[in-house]
Amino acid sequence: MNHKYKKITTRVLQEMKENGEKIAMLTAYDYTLAKIVDGAGIDVILVGDSASNVMAGHITTLPITLDQMIYHASSVVRAVERALVIVDLPFGSYQGNSKTALDSTIRIMKESGAHAVKLEGGAEVRESVVRIISSGVPVMGHLGLTPQSIYKFGTYNVRAREEEEAEKLLADALVLQEAGCFGLVMEKIPAELAAKVTASLSIPTIGIGAGSGVDGQVLVLHDMLGLTAEFSPRFLRRYLNLAEEINGAVGNYVKDVKSKDFPNVGEQY
Ligand code: KIV
Repeated sequence: MNHKYKKITTRVLQEMKENGEKIAMLTAYDYTLAKIVDGAGIDVILVGDSASNVMAGHITTLPITLDQMIYHASSVVRAVERALVIVDLPFGSYQGNSKTALDSTIRIMKESGAHAVKLEGGAEVRESVVRIISSGVPVMGHLGLTPQSIYKFGTYNVRAREEEEAEKLLADALVLQEAGCFGLVMEKIPAELAAKVTASLSIPTIGIGAGSGVDGQVLVLHDMLGLTAEFSPRFLRRYLNLAEEINGAVGNYVKDVKSKDFPNVGEQY
């Protein structure tokens, strides 16, 4: 693939926003898929705490640990040549205070080799954002539906439909920008609000279920590949139906083994 940018950095993302070039971001959690995703030209790989759901089978993102995030992140980093790799700070690794947030970030950066971290929340995480950035690590914010707070919200429904919450979201976005975040993810909010926030910020915004008026899009890799057949929100576009494909392939393998068709003479020594 012939790329305009040989290596994606936070500075490149800023340039993309300024030039009106959309940013393409996907999650990845392991070496093999990260290598394919990077080779296909993705700009940003997020080692999301959604690994808790799609890799480990938990019903929320809360159980995944810092050690587990570092394991996933280091596998991804070993595969990637071009994309910017951002790692989610998992639940419990930054909410305590800014020192805890910095310690967790330093572990991620030292032990995985990733390029940046992401955390959820607005004004309440400002001090942590400032402290992490002052150590030299770029930080991405995350507003709207913030899955680490699922038990506070009670549902995965669209956020910030009401004026008060929408105003708070815009104010939080400005706080995060002022604190030094290089970008902002907005999850499951009305498209009109996401476009308004995007127009109000000079840093790039990345949407998931936030419409087209943002600077880039992110999806969970397993969802867009059709591996998580039971998860079907309106915002999700499926590019493959891999669950069905794998089911068929495994079914054929089982059949071939049982019928003694596999291995044949050409498949043995
Ligand atoms: O963990 C994750 O995959 C995320 C994306 C949904 C933005 O935070």
